[in-house]
Amino acid sequence: MNRKKKLNKLGLHDCFMDKKNPFELFKVWMSKAEKTEINDPNALALATVNSKKQPSVRMVLLKGITNKEFIFYTNLNSRKSSELKANPRASMCFHWKTLRRQIRIDGSISKVPSKVANQYFNSRPYGSRIGAWASIQSTPMISRLDLIKRIEYFKKKYPNSKKVPRPPYWSGWALKANEIEFWLDGDNRIHQRLKYKKIGSKWKKEILYP
Ligand SMILES: Cc1cc2nc3c(=O)[nH]c(=O)nc-3n(C[C@H](O)[C@H](O)[C@H](O)COP(=O)(O)O)c2cc1C
Repeated sequence: MNRKKKLNKLGLHDCFMDKKNPFELFKVWMSKAEKTEINDPNALALATVNSKKQPSVRMVLLKGITNKEFIFYTNLNSRKSSELKANPRASMCFHWKTLRRQIRIDGSISKVPSKVANQYFNSRPYGSRIGAWASIQSTPMISRLDLIKRIEYFKKKYPNSKKVPRPPYWSGWALKANEIEFWLDGDNRIHQRLKYKKIGSKWKKEILYP
C-alpha cells in the first residue's frame, strides 16, 4: 500500500479527507470497511470502568449512529451495563485489519429512547429476540441445559414471531462522542493520527505524533 503519494492539507494521507465533522469521516471509513472486512466491520471494543475504577473491555456491534452518538444494544443487567450505570462514560475502539485503520471514540453514555430500542429489537430475527429474553447475561449458569430450557420456555410464551415484546432488561446505549481519533498504519510504525475534539458546539482538529 503506498500511503505517501496522496496527502491532504494536514500532510496526512488523503483517506483522512478534509472534513469538519468526524461523523462524516467515520461514515466514509465504515463504508470502506464494510467492503473489505470478512465479517463484522461494525464490531468494536467497548471499555467501561466500574465504581472501583477497574476497567473492563469486550466487543459489541455498532447498531446505530446519529450525528452525535454511537449506539449498541445489550442486556441492561450485564456487567457492562452495571458499570455504565455506575459510571456513565465509555470508550470505543474499532480496528479494521484489512485497512490497517483504527478509530477511537470517547464520551458519555445514556440509554436510547424506548421507541428507538423497540424499533431495533423488532428488526432482529425471532431467535435473537427469544435469546434476549432467555439470557441472564453475565451471570453464572449451572448448566447450558438451563439456557436451552429458558429458550424453549420463551418460545412457548411468545410463539408468534411478530409479537415478541422487548424485554425490560434489554435496550441500547448511546455514546455521545466528545473525542474521535482516526489512525492509519504507516511504514516503520510512523503512523498517522487525526484527532477531533468537541469544543462547545464545534469540532477542533489536531494531528498527533504516532
Ligand atoms: C464480534 C462480537 C460482537 C458482539 N456484540 C455484542 C453486542 O452487540 N451486544 C452484547 O451484549 N454482546 C455482544 N458480544 C458479546 C460481548 O463481547 C460480551 O461477551 C457480553 O456482552 C457480556 O459482556 P459483559 O459481561 O462485559 O457485560 C459480542 C461479542 C463479539 C466477539
